[in-house]
Amino acid sequence: MQDIIRLQQHFAEQLAKEDFSGNPKELYEPIEYILSLGGKRMRPALCLLGAHVVGDYQKAINAALAVEVFHNFSLIHDDIMDEAPLRRGKATVHHKWNTNIAILSGDAMLVKAYEYLSKTEPLGPILKEFNKMALEVCEGQQMDMNFEDRNDVSIDEYLKMIEYKTAVLVGAALKIGALTAGADETEAQKLYDFGRNLGIAFQLKDDWLDVFGDTELVGKQAGGDIIANKKTYLTLKAIELADANLLDELDTLYGNPEISAAEKVKEVSRIYIQTGADKKTLEATEVYYAKALESLQSSNLSSEHKSLLQAFAKNLMDREF
Ligand code: IPE
Ligand code: IPE
Ligand code: MG
Ligand code: MG
Ligand code: MG
Repeated sequence: MQDIIRLQQHFAEQLAKEDFSGNPKELYEPIEYILSLGGKRMRPALCLLGAHVVGDYQKAINAALAVEVFHNFSLIHDDIMDEAPLRRGKATVHHKWNTNIAILSGDAMLVKAYEYLSKTEPLGPILKEFNKMALEVCEGQQMDMNFEDRNDVSIDEYLKMIEYKTAVLVGAALKIGALTAGADETEAQKLYDFGRNLGIAFQLKDDWLDVFGDTELVGKQAGGDIIANKKTYLTLKAIELADANLLDELDTLYGNPEISAAEKVKEVSRIYIQTGADKKTLEATEVYYAKALESLQSSNLSSEHKSLLQAFAKNLMDREF
């Protein structure tokens, strides 16, 4: 654990040295704002860890900066798409400023992310990995939006969607970190698989926290996914497990434009509990957590390094925000 804390401190120090200010201030202030709100910083930590378990973590600092800036860019645009008012307990960028500012600051952050990436080595393989990941994130985000208007989304489609919108970045953070420290493709791919499965477990828990988490800790609008008609694991399981009466209730709750957001969240959460969808979601996080640990065990890392990654994963699974 000491190692993880040290890597996180190292990242925080490096990020603090970066200057994101500039003119026009409407373009740059939102960048400073979103980055100042912190967050868990798990992706840069994983990027540095990926390098640490292979060699020297110092080589991964630009990759870690690229990954975290990319993540924060994706959050600014995600919050526009999800019409979210709150992020990390504060106003989202499009609420604090406006949507056009949020779009453009996000665009500028994507460019900044590539600026950091261009300073990494070996650049060719890293760019290839990052580009693949970034396009998949866009694909996952579009699937997520498409699913809002559908009532026949399967669990398999859902799993593909969260793999793309969330898990590939977790995998790529580890893999790119490992590549900077000189890992070969096979070794780096094992870390990717660990991260991909961990990322799926992470998004399942994110869906659960959206409804059942402590709003203060989570820092997002409670039940935002229910309000936005998201097809989360909770919704899909509730539909699968509901009897005819509960299904009717769900149909009415989702089909009634008159119902208040608070009422919808309250009633739909009740159905998640009545159908046992809440427990099924937590069980699914365990399944993907176990898969992540299997991928880790199949790698050639030392048992000390495996334990380090396992400790990180355990922490992430137990998180309350
Ligand atoms: C939020 O990610 C977006 C998802 C993929 C669920 P995090 O929960 O890692 O957000 P921060 O960076 O810690 O705020
Ligand atoms: C976000 O998923 C994934 C990306 C930002 C690419 P969510 O929409 O579930 O993330 P939160 O809950 O807003 O953080
Ligand atoms: Mg969102
Ligand atoms: Mg979203
Ligand atoms: Mg969410």
